[in-house]
Amino acid sequence: MLAQASMPAIEIHGLSHWYGEGALKKQVLFDIDLSVARGEVVFLMGPSGCGKTTILTLLGALRSVQKGEVRVDGVELFGAGEKQVVACRRKIGFIFQNHNLHRSLTALENVRMGLEAQGKRLAVDADARCLAMLAIVGLADHAHKRQDKLSGGQRQRVAIARALIADPKIVLADEPTAALDSTTGYEVIALIRRLARERGMSVLMVTHDNRILSLADRIVEMEDGQLISAQTPASHIGRSPAPADNSLNTGEVTIS
Ligand SMILES: Nc1ncnc2c1ncn2[C@@H]1O[C@H](COP(=O)(O)OP(=O)(O)OP(=O)(O)O)[C@@H](O)[C@H]1O
Ligand SMILES: [Mg+2]
Repeated sequence: MLAQASMPAIEIHGLSHWYGEGALKKQVLFDIDLSVARGEVVFLMGPSGCGKTTILTLLGALRSVQKGEVRVDGVELFGAGEKQVVACRRKIGFIFQNHNLHRSLTALENVRMGLEAQGKRLAVDADARCLAMLAIVGLADHAHKRQDKLSGGQRQRVAIARALIADPKIVLADEPTAALDSTTGYEVIALIRRLARERGMSVLMVTHDNRILSLADRIVEMEDGQLISAQTPASHIGRSPAPADNSLNTGEVTIS
């Protein structure tokens, strides 16, 4: 199906989810409605165990949708077959802790896998592109180090570079700044936001990081498997936006 420009990148309606079987079956998501527009950066916040990662894994077609509608760039995931699942995953850059990062590969090789996963033939300048992306996340000097020789923060930056290298339409990120110092964390998310603006890339990011909240267009809060509010960063933070880059604060705010 061709994606229409006006269609949200992410559309969720009436999404519920259960883990376990029989007597152990437990509902963890309750009738969630959420949409993310093209180019929009949405932060998903809430206490541990409220269901944030579950939403991301359903959107990423990493687990099956049990009830509700979940559309990713027009691909419906409820009842989706292998073809739709693969199509969906190719539209997404994942920034999950240690998701598919290979310990025995170098940083450069891991980032290159982000291109290979798209199923396209690698262009001749693929390595140059990967090196440029590693430089953007501050790893120019570590490109040829094996993943298991890097620090936690450096590994996380490799994951970010790998997620962004193939120019995904959608980025799903689970606490991407958790292992980063505050300056690097802010810079990396500012970069993701700039790419969202420039390329119409949509971002749904789980975070507990108060230092980066000003970079969101919208903050959605969850509790006990339900969405409880959506607000602009300023009202959430209750103070003026954090430093740097007013030029980035040009996006429209949409509350749905
Ligand atoms: N694979 C699983 N099997 C059974 N229960 C699970 C599974 N994954 C998560 N849960 C449960 O589902 C609920 C939601 O978990 P989820 O990981 O989505 O929370 P979260 O908001 O991401 O939490 P955190 O901030 O700690 O990462 C929790 O009660 C959790 O214990
Ligand atoms: Mg989680």
